Amino acid sequence: MLSEGQNRTLTEVGAGTPMGELLRRYWMPIAGVAELEDAPTKAVRVLGEDLVLYRDKRGTYGLLDRHCPHRRADLSYGTVEDCGLRCHYHGWLYDETGRCLAQPFEEIAHPEARFKDRITIKSYPVEAKAGLLWAYLGPAPAPLVPTWEPFTWKNGFVQIVLSEVPCNWLQCQENSIDPVHFEWLHGNWSRVLRGIDGSRPPTHLKIAFDEFEFGFIYRRVLEGQSESSELWTVGRTCLWPNCLFTGAHFEWRVPIDDDHTLSVGWFFDRVPNEMEPFEQERIPCWHSPIKDPLTGRWITSHIMNQDFVAWVGQGTVADRTGEHLGESDRGVIMMRRKLLEQAEVVRRGGEPKAIVRDAERNGCIELPIIERDRHVNGFPKHQLAPEIAKTPGPILPEGFVFLAGQPEEVRRAYRRAMGLDTEPARDARG
Ligand code: FES
Ligand SMILES: [Fe+2]
Repeated sequence: MLSEGQNRTLTEVGAGTPMGELLRRYWMPIAGVAELEDAPTKAVRVLGEDLVLYRDKRGTYGLLDRHCPHRRADLSYGTVEDCGLRCHYHGWLYDETGRCLAQPFEEIAHPEARFKDRITIKSYPVEAKAGLLWAYLGPAPAPLVPTWEPFTWKNGFVQIVLSEVPCNWLQCQENSIDPVHFEWLHGNWSRVLRGIDGSRPPTHLKIAFDEFEFGFIYRRVLEGQSESSELWTVGRTCLWPNCLFTGAHFEWRVPIDDDHTLSVGWFFDRVPNEMEPFEQERIPCWHSPIKDPLTGRWITSHIMNQDFVAWVGQGTVADRTGEHLGESDRGVIMMRRKLLEQAEVVRRGGEPKAIVRDAERNGCIELPIIERDRHVNGFPKHQLAPEIAKTPGPILPEGFVFLAGQPEEVRRAYRRAMGLDTEPARDARG
């Protein structure tokens, strides 16, 4: 149980707050590269700041204040030029470093005044990696965007899925270090929701948590399995500071503000050996709905949707003064302590954990990975089991099991990549 003050410290993300300052030391994924190919500007809100992300005609990305410094127009309606983003209201033009490059009427009226030289707009660095666009809102010098090992894998079908979840980021991230929920929220609940009697998912017999350089590892022994299982020997990763990494997919929980979180899923599916070599031309990025429009209730059918139901159910900002933590929550307690400790490190002017600055090291950062060989070297097609066989428990619908609403063209591109059907080639757009 936490005090009200501790809960506030852990959950508030605005500039100047302890957690806001800690989280600003890390690159945050905020969009898919594919999104900006389809539309060159995107309104984003990150860590309580309203911004506009854009890609100019040269292909340079920028992240600027949402509001034009002239008279505050919304720059997500601006237009991109060869270099920079131009405000649609009076035509002032900005580049990705925040310089004002043009002020059409001022330059006619008072060309000698060079008013534009006195104008800057707030700007943050953006980098593309692994089909994602990453933003850094912290102090210079920016560290490197980590090259996590799966970003270097070949012969895989990758997709990115965004969902906006109306609750605070921390309850989402606490779910990244909560092995027991898998058995209940996904395994047992899925069975009840689908009216399936009889067999139950294997129960957790033992769990353990270890801190490592890039976060925490959680391990489990399930009924019917031994300590030689990779679920125990390798484990899964609660990736510092705001991500879950399960071995083939990442789930970042990016704070939009204190009350909203952008869930960013990055999923890798290795193609079978018969489909090699496979080069993905475009990594699709799609938005997953979280509410059923017919009932107004949260969608419960898919794994991450079930997580969202749990998170929003805890309240917009979970009241941790009223909770009763048990043995299953040891990881949650470790993570909260670490967050408070690391926020203090930043407050004292130090560098927090898991910041990557060594370019050589960043060629490929290894993580604990269950079934690494399968992801790296592949497998024959007859071993291509649907996801349902890879997850210990839930009974799930056909197709993409993690999030509801996968567009048909992404489903088809996935099936083609896997050699599951022979429909004529078409780009995955989404
Ligand atoms: S408000 Fe943007 S140019 Fe005037
Ligand atoms: Fe979950």
